[in-house]
Amino acid sequence: MKIDGKAFRSIWREDDGSRRGVVKIIDQRWLPHDLRIEPLRDRAAFAVAIRDMWVRGAPLIGATAAYGVAVQMAQDPSDALLDETWDVLHETRPTAINLRWALDDMRTRLRQLPPEERAEAAYARADMICEEDVEMNRKIGEHGLAIIRDIAAQKAPGEPVRILTHCNAGWPATVDWGTATSPIYQAVAAGIPVHVFVDETRPRNQGAQLTAWELNSHGVPHDLIVDNAGGHLMQHGEVDMVIVGTDRTTANGDVCNKIGTYLKALAAKANGVPFYVALPSPTIDWTVGDGVREIPIEERSGSEVTHVQGRDAQGRIVTVQVSPDGTGARNPAFDVTPANLVTGLITERGVCEASPDALAAMFPDRAPGR
Ligand code: MRU
Repeated sequence: MKIDGKAFRSIWREDDGSRRGVVKIIDQRWLPHDLRIEPLRDRAAFAVAIRDMWVRGAPLIGATAAYGVAVQMAQDPSDALLDETWDVLHETRPTAINLRWALDDMRTRLRQLPPEERAEAAYARADMICEEDVEMNRKIGEHGLAIIRDIAAQKAPGEPVRILTHCNAGWPATVDWGTATSPIYQAVAAGIPVHVFVDETRPRNQGAQLTAWELNSHGVPHDLIVDNAGGHLMQHGEVDMVIVGTDRTTANGDVCNKIGTYLKALAAKANGVPFYVALPSPTIDWTVGDGVREIPIEERSGSEVTHVQGRDAQGRIVTVQVSPDGTGARNPAFDVTPANLVTGLITERGVCEASPDALAAMFPDRAPGR
């Protein structure tokens, strides 16, 4: 997608005169106020970038980890370093399954090769993971567009389809397109009027800082709302559908996503608002059934709750404290929306019910034991 009219991806390999170039990312901690691009040159830099959320969003975390493996293979392609890299990168963030998916994918392929061939193959596979992500998200957009088109058809001409989204499941969370935003971008391209309600998404404000920024860059009409406003808007008939992303969806169809997603799903159910989840298939964890009990939920620092970052009147990015000295904070970063609250899963293969049978029917080649 574009920033100031220039096409960007969230991660890319750039020619720097060296044999394999350098991996670069947008350091998302400073958006929307500052566009900082950083090179990641060694495994430690990749681990920091994922753990400290320079990059974030399940698909992008996976793609970043894949390049982290490649960079390590260029330095030492031994079995020992391959395993150690899997461990070091895997422990950075526990919830998004795309991280483990990408690390498993890389290790399985590279193990079959002699060490001297691993670096080249690793870079090629990491590039491919990025291309696959872009294509999956493009297709998610096509399938989601059909849903938006149906809703638009029930409205008066010119009346926008009002879509609520939570967190940032936009292009910065993926390599390109986004998951939840891809149908929105494709609806806009198809000339369907849309209006997006963007949950701010405390504590880290991915909605306010990233989703609002990218929609703004692409001229998509939107309003930023506080996290607690969604229920009210739904109750008053101001939301036609919800589309969110996910960090891990179980074989049963339970959806783990940014904290607060569950409350939006409850409000949507209570008000008859369709609640869709957009996901590329690497986000499905076929080894887990019950998401509430089995998915590890990342607990982040309480300082993300007690403090907030923004731009001051002088244009400086500053962090301020919002709670009293001495107040403790809990900061679970994700929650699980049970499958029965989900209207449909928008995947690269099409839209299906959030149920074990529907998921297995959509992915018969992936679902184990069927
Ligand atoms: O903590 P984050 O910012 O990495 O969380 C991101 C989300 O929860 C996204 O909604 C999810 O990864 C889907 S991204 C396409």
